[in-house]
Amino acid sequence: ALLPGTARAQAAYPNRPINIIVPFAAGGPTDVVTRLVAEVMARDLGQPVVVENVGGAGGTLGAQRVAQARPDGYTLLLHHIGMGTTPALYRRLAYDPVNGFETVGLVTEVPMTIIAKKDFPAANLAEMVRVMREQKQSINLANAGVGAASHLCGLLLQSAVQTQVTTIPYRGTGPAMTDLIGGTVDLMCDQTTNTTQQIRSGAVRAFAVTTSERNAALPDLPTAAEAGLPGFEVSVWHGLYAPKGTDAAIVARLSRSLQVALRDERLVARFAELGTTPVSQERATPDAHRAYWQADIAKWRPIIQAAGQYAD
Ligand code: MLT
Repeated sequence: ALLPGTARAQAAYPNRPINIIVPFAAGGPTDVVTRLVAEVMARDLGQPVVVENVGGAGGTLGAQRVAQARPDGYTLLLHHIGMGTTPALYRRLAYDPVNGFETVGLVTEVPMTIIAKKDFPAANLAEMVRVMREQKQSINLANAGVGAASHLCGLLLQSAVQTQVTTIPYRGTGPAMTDLIGGTVDLMCDQTTNTTQQIRSGAVRAFAVTTSERNAALPDLPTAAEAGLPGFEVSVWHGLYAPKGTDAAIVARLSRSLQVALRDERLVARFAELGTTPVSQERATPDAHRAYWQADIAKWRPIIQAAGQYAD
């Protein structure tokens, strides 16, 4: 007999591969987190979980793709703090950046590091600040577009240093890192999930970590406060979303699968190597994620308006 809609959807779900959109280029911090989570969720759900990179416009193109996808549980979005900042940064989007998604659960909060090409003429954060103030627009700061975490960190850094530099946008900080290592851009503020290995190998120079405590994966790296920028704190929360209207039973099934992933030993160990930890199980839930996301939108709006940097 035919089951009613919801029961039929819930009973069969998932019965084909699931797509998770990463709104930045492959090889960057969002991609790294998503692939680790997707691998465990696929085992738990018994279906392939395919990661697709849809970069551009600071993550809003990927977010738009999911906002406009069928709410059937087969197209998801793994995004980050950019979901908190884009409502203030973008005046015209083709989707509702505040209510256009169902929240599945928070994933992780990743510290950021202030880094430079290895021959940048500064040995520490205080000297970097001086060089920024002297060289201003001749300094190239790489980011992943307006709405990226690297954009937000760059905004906060320029406000803290009271100077403007030139911004070079990429489709993700994966590709940006290639140019920083190559020395064609000077500075970047990016997540430990993308920078820890490059800092350890000496491929880039690190000045500070942007959390109140030092990072266990980079114990010698001073905090921004220690290094001379007190109050400079930002870490990048990540969350998993489905299109608005996705059946609550499907969202609940996905949240349970996310929780399985976040307690997977191999994932926890890999996150630790990359300077981060999964959120607690109760935060990997739809309600906890929605509350955190909505509060973050309210938090960043006045800060972004004071900085006066908009996308359009
Ligand atoms: C990425 O995955 O490339 C980063 O999250 C981009 C950014 O937000 O800075």
